[in-house]
Amino acid sequence: MPPVFALPNDAAVPLHVLDQDSCADWLEQQPQHISHWAQANGFTGACGQALLIPNTDGKPALALAGYGTGAQRARRRYVLAAAAEKLPQGTYAIASGLSQDALNTECFGWLLCGYRFDRYREQSLFKADLVAPEAVDAAAIESLVAAECLTRDLINTPASDMGPDELQRAAETLAEAFGASITTIQDDALLAQNLPMIHAVGRASDRRPRLIDMNWGASGPKLTLVGKGVCFDTGGLNLKPGASMGLMKKDMGGAAAVLGLAKAIMAANLPLQLRVLIPAVENSVSGSAFRPGDILTSRKGLTVEINNTDAEGRLVLADALALADEDKPDLLISMATLTGAARVAVGPDLAPFFTDDEQVATALATNAQPSADPVWRLPFHTPYETKIEPGIADLDNAPAGGFAGSITAALFLRRFAGDSRYVHFDIYGWNPTPAAARPKGGAGQGTRALFAALPELLNL
Ligand code: BES
Ligand code: MN
Ligand code: ZN
Repeated sequence: MPPVFALPNDAAVPLHVLDQDSCADWLEQQPQHISHWAQANGFTGACGQALLIPNTDGKPALALAGYGTGAQRARRRYVLAAAAEKLPQGTYAIASGLSQDALNTECFGWLLCGYRFDRYREQSLFKADLVAPEAVDAAAIESLVAAECLTRDLINTPASDMGPDELQRAAETLAEAFGASITTIQDDALLAQNLPMIHAVGRASDRRPRLIDMNWGASGPKLTLVGKGVCFDTGGLNLKPGASMGLMKKDMGGAAAVLGLAKAIMAANLPLQLRVLIPAVENSVSGSAFRPGDILTSRKGLTVEINNTDAEGRLVLADALALADEDKPDLLISMATLTGAARVAVGPDLAPFFTDDEQVATALATNAQPSADPVWRLPFHTPYETKIEPGIADLDNAPAGGFAGSITAALFLRRFAGDSRYVHFDIYGWNPTPAAARPKGGAGQGTRALFAALPELLNL
């Protein structure tokens, strides 16, 4: 179960969040045993410090959490979570020290300290419970937490238990919980229904390729989310070297992210018509695998020369985007662990996105910081279109040289999004360095910035 707030509770320990700059002054105004205790324990208000101060009867009187300085906070996310992880078992209620914006982010981070991926092994529990401060919308924070936990679980689950079938089932479970409708087009039906590139990429695997199509909401603007659901990416016949293949269970990170975002949207009951499209495949190797040099004809009719079977994500997304565009959504979003080049460009923390729509770019930039979900715009640099035009076919799936790899992949996708208002995220979907509330493993990216931007972008 995803973590939630503790019920309001008279026995909750009041927790004071202290800025390093004002910590000494604050302590001076407290009863002497408190300031002495803090001093004796070296509490200075530095980022992530935590201290429980007992009463004379030995029961906890109050707790302190170090909030550091502005400069320290700029270097990390979820500062309070770092302190929460050091607090002993108990129930805490924030008594002072955080602004409204900070409260939302820090409460979200605190709850996420309770995330555990315990499907295969019991994990030690996080036992510092937090009472929801009155100033926050507790249910809204809990549903964002639940959405992130879903994304993490889906990514963390190894490919042996998260193939196209299981990914479909996860989408069905989500649809059922919110009364959404869901259909899938599988295997040969992909050919019959003109989704040839999804079929070509997935056909070598025993775990059959499919397109998952979930729909929710009867009225309002149309929002379509497309997520890359490559449940494992061997690279195909252009097999990845071992070191690069090791993490490829996360190649359905885009699908996991859009399912998390969909969950948040449905839980908030946003007044829109939501469609989620997930091409779910395994990029595998067998006698029926697609080959380098093959030329595929896409749903849209554009022909694609395969120069590398490891550039499979753009192929399955292309057919899904073409289908999405036929429906003329008001906003079309794709999320995908699409290129290694994106990770090289911005690292694992930032979610790079592409859009030609200035309002979308501005809304994402302004909502990223308050959502603690950093995003960064990369350019749809049109002059690079020539790089994806091989001559022998309309498009090349893997331009030689690899210059601007994330941009050329995004330009490839843009060809299929038609004239829809379009934004594409090339995410990493994985946190390699454990930090408070952000354990090593699957991670949602871009989803909260998007969620926060939606009301503005769709006039909700
Ligand atoms: N799933 C990978 C991209 C990837 C690799 C994301 C590592 C995150 C970490 C994608 O399918 C891929 O293999 N892309 C190739 C494209 C290239 C062959 C044009 C890449 O980025 O190397
Ligand atoms: Mn690949
Ligand atoms: Zn891939």
